[in-house]
Amino acid sequence: ATTLGASAAQTGRYFGTAISAGKLGDSAYTTIAAREFDMVTAENEMKLDATEPNQGQFNYSAGDRVANWATSNGKRLRGHTLAWHSQQPGWMQNMSGSTLRTAMLNHVTQVATHYKGKIYAWDVVNEAFADGSSGARRDSNLQRTGNDWIEAAFRAARAADPAAKLCYNDYNIDDWSHAKTQAVYSMVRDFKSRGVPIDCVGLQAHFNSGNPVPGNFTSTVSGFAALGVDVQITELDIQGSGTDQANKYRTVVNACLAVPRCTGITVWGVRDSDSWRASDTPLLFDNGGNKKAAYNATLDAL
Ligand code: XIL
Repeated sequence: ATTLGASAAQTGRYFGTAISAGKLGDSAYTTIAAREFDMVTAENEMKLDATEPNQGQFNYSAGDRVANWATSNGKRLRGHTLAWHSQQPGWMQNMSGSTLRTAMLNHVTQVATHYKGKIYAWDVVNEAFADGSSGARRDSNLQRTGNDWIEAAFRAARAADPAAKLCYNDYNIDDWSHAKTQAVYSMVRDFKSRGVPIDCVGLQAHFNSGNPVPGNFTSTVSGFAALGVDVQITELDIQGSGTDQANKYRTVVNACLAVPRCTGITVWGVRDSDSWRASDTPLLFDNGGNKKAAYNATLDAL
């Protein structure tokens, strides 16, 4: 096949991109996005600060622009994200305890209900574990409401949209030997054993020179999948250029293809200039929308 989405579909997988509502008027951007990808994640528009700017007042205008673009272009939609310590609205940042717990669960219920039936998978909880060797939860206002906040969020999401796959999503869980990876693994295993509704693990996969694609990346993908969950690579971008970057993309694609339950890959933007870390030139298209070596390697590997 001649596009990323069609090539991924040959093995029953998807290939997606993050989409920014503010760029949907840029035809160079939408032409590439419409042609190449078959899954869409809103880069910021479904986050907590965007969807509930004032408590109890929900704003779906930007999220719906992304969702409607996906629908009208025949693409599936990944929801990102219902509960997260970052990009919270101001009112939530100032909340704690049972008031915050209730507000968080209401947010999960309301947003998942609004998008019910339209979402392939939700990143229900994002980035809840600490970096480093502790294997601990990340400290946050949500964590301080009690260790069971994550499972409470998953149960609320399942009740609101039973058809959506429910994922835990994080970064720096790509190296199987790292404490953070093993801590997430233990949580997912515990959820599966107790019947907490979880269907998938999202590996963000933001790679750079200080955080390279680990040599055991395939083991990580297969390790999570062995728990009986799907795995998706959800926010892929890789600092670099030329053949070196291309080989790294090839490695990541091959890791997903090696694991039957790795169901798809999403890159975190279209052109390098669209990236949240544009100076790393981490994506598959250059600023002019031309296919990079990394694109050719990715298409070839799929
Ligand atoms: C980033 C967006 O790309 C930026 O536009 C925004 O300013 C900050 O958030 N992990 C995630 C994503 O789960 O939501 C983040 O997206 C990148 C890191």
